[in-house]
Amino acid sequence: MAQLWGGRFTKETDKLVYNFNASISFDKKFYEEDIEGSIAHVTMLAAVGILTEVERDDIICTLKEIKNEVDNGSLEITDEYEDIHSFVEANLIKRLGDTGKKLHTGRSRNDQVALDMRLYTRKQVKAVDGELEELLTTILHIMKENTQTIMPGFTHLQKAQPITLAHHMGAYFEMFKRDRQRLFDIYERMNYCPLGSGALAGTTYPLDREMTAELLGFYGPTLNSMDGVSDRDYLIEFLSALSTIMMHLSRFSEEVIIWNSNEYQFVEIDDAYSTGSSIMPQKKNPDIAELVRGKTGRVYGALMSLLTTMKGIPLAYNKDMQEDKELSFDAMDTAKGCIALFNGMIKTMRFKKENMRKSANNGFTNATDAADYLVKHGVPFRDAHGIVGQIVLYCIERNIAIDDMSLEELKAISPVFEADVYDVISMETCVNTRLTIGAPSEDAMKKVIALEEAYLTDNSNKIV
Ligand code: ARG
Repeated sequence: MAQLWGGRFTKETDKLVYNFNASISFDKKFYEEDIEGSIAHVTMLAAVGILTEVERDDIICTLKEIKNEVDNGSLEITDEYEDIHSFVEANLIKRLGDTGKKLHTGRSRNDQVALDMRLYTRKQVKAVDGELEELLTTILHIMKENTQTIMPGFTHLQKAQPITLAHHMGAYFEMFKRDRQRLFDIYERMNYCPLGSGALAGTTYPLDREMTAELLGFYGPTLNSMDGVSDRDYLIEFLSALSTIMMHLSRFSEEVIIWNSNEYQFVEIDDAYSTGSSIMPQKKNPDIAELVRGKTGRVYGALMSLLTTMKGIPLAYNKDMQEDKELSFDAMDTAKGCIALFNGMIKTMRFKKENMRKSANNGFTNATDAADYLVKHGVPFRDAHGIVGQIVLYCIERNIAIDDMSLEELKAISPVFEADVYDVISMETCVNTRLTIGAPSEDAMKKVIALEEAYLTDNSNKIV
């Protein structure tokens, strides 16, 4: 048991207590950030005259050595240390003796862990943003190819009005774009450095907090040391953003599952992204989409867990906060993995355009347009609605589409119909007369696609 705080204790820690308290099994994930933070800290300590340049160089060189050895596997992070901070410091002291003991001057593990977690999370925010950017690129590609691919749009999972595949995909483009904007905002708010907050009340050493903040790429130091060590808002915000991303992915997954079903056959998931059944030889299951949908619960769980952990904690640091790590790490890894897999799945998915088109034709998706036709010819909307309702009933009884009715049949229900109705209620007209921005017509979609393309290529939308 290697601890940093034995001095005032007369007994060994109970083994179970030690294990319960230890965090090395999961905080080893940010050994790199811990070392990065320590290098900035000693660089600053030397700059303000607390360490000599020789001490600084020895410590930095040894810290880098430790990092390299962990990287290449020659130094193993083992459970004999309480946490990653103890591991790094103990190894430093083993190699440097008294000089190593100076590393922790003017620092507490409270501001150290606050820094490490922030550095780690900051990288993750960027990584998730990068995954989303790739997903958006795939979605935009599908949009460009499918401004004329007609499919039914649904409400209540009932066929409603014809749209295009580009339009449907465009809805998800908007969702994931907002998700990126959320990440961008979170990054802006979180990018302040808690190092130098000490245990809770700063330190008596003349630390240069601006300097460490700058060395570590932060906008500046956090402005209250109690808040600096105990703020986990940024993590809650990030988990909330990840939850929203997963919610979007889960809705999309649900659609892919429905579209891929034997009843719909709108898409075929690539063999590389499907799995089989051990008993039913005919099966090709959409497991990836189902798993993405399923894993959404895990990410929501991490958010709920941290919100609950934080709700009763008095200022400043309390050990409860150690619970900010495991589920957050899991949520970050889960969300990143899901975005990447989902992207691969839709990139390789085959859209069965003929089936989409057939489904739009056969679902009375042009009924609203037939009613609008009557309205434009002077029939009050309520009456027009009733007339088209009768037409639909007539068609259902005969298993035909409105377009399949002869003009005589239509006229028998309403004499207002003329031959031009067939053009008005054709799928192409239904889609392409919806011209307002945000609507599915090819003209409107092309304008939107140009805007989305400009958004994707504009580097100021990226987190740098
Ligand atoms: N493992 C701890 C955590 O994750 C590090 C901070 C420990 N600080 C303390 N005062 N015990 O929060």
